[in-house]
This record gives sequence, C-alpha cells and structure tokens, in this order.
Amino acid sequence: MPDSVLRRAASRFGTPLYLYDFDVIERQVARLRRALGPRFELAYAVKANPSLGVLFFLGKLGLSSDVASAGELAAALRAGFLPSKILSTGPAKNDEDLEALVRARVAIIHAEGEWELEQLEKIGKRLRRRVAVGLRLNPPWGIAEKRVMIGGPGAKKFGFDLTSARKILRVKERFPRLEVCGFQVFNASNVLNASLLVQNVRNVLSLAIALSKEFSVPLRSVDFGGGFGVPYSDGERPLDLKILREGLEAVARDVSLEPRLDGTRLVFEPGRFLVAESGTYAVNVLGTKRSRGVDCVLVDGGIHHFLRPVLFGTPHRVRLIRARNGRRPRPSSPSRRSMVVSGPLCTSLDVLHPAARLPLPERGDLLAFENAGAYGYTESMPLFLSHEWPAEAGVRKGRLALLRKAPSVATLLRGQSDPFGGR
Ligand SMILES: Cc1ncc(COP(=O)(O)O)c(C=O)c1O
Repeated sequence: MPDSVLRRAASRFGTPLYLYDFDVIERQVARLRRALGPRFELAYAVKANPSLGVLFFLGKLGLSSDVASAGELAAALRAGFLPSKILSTGPAKNDEDLEALVRARVAIIHAEGEWELEQLEKIGKRLRRRVAVGLRLNPPWGIAEKRVMIGGPGAKKFGFDLTSARKILRVKERFPRLEVCGFQVFNASNVLNASLLVQNVRNVLSLAIALSKEFSVPLRSVDFGGGFGVPYSDGERPLDLKILREGLEAVARDVSLEPRLDGTRLVFEPGRFLVAESGTYAVNVLGTKRSRGVDCVLVDGGIHHFLRPVLFGTPHRVRLIRARNGRRPRPSSPSRRSMVVSGPLCTSLDVLHPAARLPLPERGDLLAFENAGAYGYTESMPLFLSHEWPAEAGVRKGRLALLRKAPSVATLLRGQSDPFGGR
C-alpha cells in the first residue's frame, strides 16, 4: 500500500488504524479461484476478518462463507450471504449458536462433538426442521504446522477422532431430525507448501468416501478447511499457486470418475490467504529513547490491537513512513538499525516488533505493520488499558472509506454501573 495512502488515511481517521486494501482482497480472490478451478467452492472463514465492509465485498464477489458463532452468522447474513452459501464450523458452539444456525437454515452445520448432535436434534425437533449436519473429523494424519495454530495432525479439541466418528455414525438413526451428509477436516493453518495441501485434499476425499460407503452417508459436501498460507517473514516463500492448480485439476479429474461425489460441494474455507496481505496496522510514533544500548520506539498502538506478533512469536514486517515527505534514507543506508517497537500497555509483553531494522523514526512519523488483515483487529485484546480501539478503514481504487468507527471511551464505559453503591 503506498505511503501516501497510509498518510492520508492516518490524517483522516487517526491512529492507531487498521487499513485494508480492497484491491488486494479482490486480487487474492481471483488468484485463489484460478488455482482452485471450477470444481471447488470458495467460502470465506469470517473469523479471519469479520469487518462488515470486507464481508459485503466478498459476498458480492460470489464467495460463500464459514461462520463459527451466532455473531459471525449475524454478520454474514447482514452482509447479504444467502443461507445456502453459509456453512458453519467451530468447536464448542453453544446452544444459542446452534439454534441461530438452525433457524437461519444454513447449508450445513459441522458438528464437533456428540453433544452438538444431541442439541441439534433437540432444536430440530422443537422447530420441526430437518438439519443438514456434517461431521468435523480429526484424523491422526494431516499437515504438520510450522507454528501451532490449529494443532496439526491429531489436534485434540477439534472434531471427532475416527474411532468416535465411527461410533456415532453407527448409531446415527438416534438422530432422526439430522441428515448427516458431509465431512469436514481442517487441522493446519498458514501452510505454504502447495503439494501438502493437495495431498491433504486427496486424503480427506478418500476418508470421506470410505465413511460414506461404510455408513451410507450421502456426500452433500466435503470441506477441506482453510490453511492457505502467506509469508510473514522475509525468508518465507509464498504458496506456489501453479502447483496448487495443477494438483487440484488432477484431483477434479479423479473426482469426476467417482459417482459418490456427483454433485458434492467440495469446499475450501480459507481466511488468511484472502485478507492477510490487504491489511496494515498503522501506528504513530510518540517518541524514541535509548536505554542500556537498545533503541526503543514508543508508539500509540500495541498488542491490545495487534496481538498476533506476540501470540505466535512472528514479528510482522514493518516500514517507516515519515510524517513529512522528506528525503528518506536508502534501504542500505547505514542509519538503519535494530530497534524495539513497543506500545502503551503496562507490560513488557507489549512489543510490536523486537528487532525492527529501520532508520530511527521521529515523533509524528508512522510505522506500518504489514500483513495485518487476517487475525489482527479481532484476535487481539482491545480492552486492556481502556484505550480507544483503532478504527478500521478501507481503500478501493485509491478511495478511502471508514469501515468501523473507533469506539469512544464513553462507549467503553457504556453498560457499566456501580451496582454496590461504592461499598
Ligand atoms: C474451521 C475453520 N475454517 C477455516 C479457518 C481459516 O483458516 P485460514 O485462515 O488458515 O485459512 C479456520 C481458522 O482457524 C477454522 O478454524
């Protein structure tokens, strides 16, 4: 994203600020669609960035969506996703989540435990509805994650392991209101190896077909989850979309020969790949200090808005945007040095970058953290220290727009009282 756009956005909406480049989102959708080909459906995992503006945009591009809660469902519906294009997956969905999903008549609800099936059965009975259900499976094989996010093969809290899945499929008639009609497997995020992703698709399909035969489960949908990675650090190579495309073309050819997969929705539900690279978290430099030989830059944002770098121990690339369009030192300039970028939280954990290599910033400059469009704003902890949250803004073909106003301090206090009269 050009520095001039960030400067304009920061002066218009203030800092700290999340800014998403919608042209990048559009590009990522197009690139991934080309790689998936026509046989695979693209659903957006809302959790990656549930900002309504982003959802409206992706809905208009024709994507389906995957929601994990009643809140995400409400957002997807508000953004215009048809229920037939909404799928749901998420561990520990509560009774309200499940009821909202049934009432909305979403395409399929992936159950992650026996109690969810029992609860869905009760809801289906009460509402006199048949409920399309898939089982989220947690096979002992799968893609090992570079950094644990979902948990890799054998992740424990997600879905049914194969013994439990077989046990429940054997007695599926216990749930007359449920139509078990699909499977979902997702156990690795931020995967940068396209061949592993393709192999995983093959493995999931074989498993789905085997269970379908063994337990007479119609395959209305098979869902391979998300997991398409983006490079966060300089040494990482982007996903090879050519390998992905060629691999999936071969899978699609094999699928066309398998009668059980005739008309089956073959779904991917990525989040990160579609939105991560669109986003920048921009903060304002409040001051710098040198302490015991270390340069520290203090900024007006921190890990309360952008937790990811410390949560996963992966600093994001950051660049300096001078307040004035002054002469900028060349990248190889010796004035570049390593510095710690920290925010206002009263904890030494609040480090946005432990070793950013930058020319020393000055008060009023901006620092722009890249690849912040996925799992940024909403995977953080904005209430700590009661600062205002950042606004979210978008840029589309050079035009800036506010997506979500920063809530004021008054908003943060709203709904609270002194219930014990100060005693
Ligand atoms: C069920 C489910 N589907 C899809 C995703 C999206 O994953 P990614 O952003 O890695 O594509 C997640 C992420 O946690 C998930 O839990």
